[in-house]
Amino acid sequence: MLKGKHIVLGICGGIAAYKSVTLLRLLTKAGAEVQVVMTPAGKEFITPVTLSSLSQRPVVSEFFTANTGEWHSHVDLGLWADLMVIAPATASTMAKMAHGVADNMLVTTYLSAREPVMIAPAMDLDMYRHPTTQRNLRQLAADGVMIVEAETGALASGLQGKGRMAEPEEIFAIIERYFARCESLAGKKAVVTAGPTYEKLDPVRFIGNFSSGKMGFAIAGELADRGAEVTLVAGPVSLTVDHPRIRRVDVESAEEMCDATTQAFAGSDIAVFSAAVADYRPAERKDQKIKREGVATQTIELVRNPDIAARCGDMKRRGQVTVGFALETDDGHDAAHKKLHNKNLDFVVLNSLKDKGAGFRTDTNRVTIVSEDGEQAFPLKSKREVAADIVDAIEKAMK
Ligand code: C5P
Repeated sequence: MLKGKHIVLGICGGIAAYKSVTLLRLLTKAGAEVQVVMTPAGKEFITPVTLSSLSQRPVVSEFFTANTGEWHSHVDLGLWADLMVIAPATASTMAKMAHGVADNMLVTTYLSAREPVMIAPAMDLDMYRHPTTQRNLRQLAADGVMIVEAETGALASGLQGKGRMAEPEEIFAIIERYFARCESLAGKKAVVTAGPTYEKLDPVRFIGNFSSGKMGFAIAGELADRGAEVTLVAGPVSLTVDHPRIRRVDVESAEEMCDATTQAFAGSDIAVFSAAVADYRPAERKDQKIKREGVATQTIELVRNPDIAARCGDMKRRGQVTVGFALETDDGHDAAHKKLHNKNLDFVVLNSLKDKGAGFRTDTNRVTIVSEDGEQAFPLKSKREVAADIVDAIEKAMK
């Protein structure tokens, strides 16, 4: 699993740095190529000589070598690596990462990293539980950093509590699981709909809704991170996407979304319908701006839009896994079960606008995944974590 993988191992100045030697050994033994990057304080705890011998690469710590002037490029490291692991991550480095204080090679490398980043914090219990550290940890998690929680036990200070770095074997197992997950959907194709649709009334007005597209974009990102080739059919949203395995198709109306989605669905293994598709569109789209002069009331005739999920449900082949959403203003369990059947879906992700932090425009969501086999309710999580839960369910169904 790790053979040939490129890993940047960041080491900060904490007593747990001695455990990083074991982690490095485990990684290289498993066939990974490891580039060690240390903070200046890290070198006080463990010598670069030990680390460069074990990694068979010079350790990087300064921006340039003083006597030769050779420049070490953090940008190149960011392009080279498949994963950056910072173990131990000290309170100070986490604070710098959270705020972009790029005053050493390690934090600069972090800021240039295109690859995912994992940190294993280690510090004394009071530092760990300090609101500042906890705030920084939350910020880093929100920025997408994977966190290997510190453990509870004996600390170097002689105190007992939470702050011990996870054991190297544990971190190694998490890294292995991470890479296994990266390839779990390799060779699979997926289509995801996201965002609202705009149904034009005239050249300047439309009927739309408040969907931000965040949930669908998070799902597309999660599928692509696990190796799937994703077609993301996006309504008008202000989100950007930059992933080599995501092909984005921008559409405006439900009919355009329907065309793009059904086309992609035919060759897909997975479909997730997370778009908030307008149920109706104006029967007539005026070429000129509708004028209000002398018109006291306006009646707009609406006609039904195609139901994209249901259309794909009709086309569905054995082995295709499809997921729909049910955004309800009440508890919505009956509605979710109906959608499961009517749209021939494997799962319906139910969320309610009644829940604080769920639904449109938020960064969080609280969902229940409904299937023929039952219901699984999840707590409030970030949309990216919710996306991981949904993709886990998809993977289980594909087995
Ligand atoms: O029927 P309802 O709109 O509540 O169903 C929601 C689910 O169906 C979502 O997954 C949504 O993306 C999908 N849908 C669709 N096309 C429509 C309406 C809803 O794909 N026209």
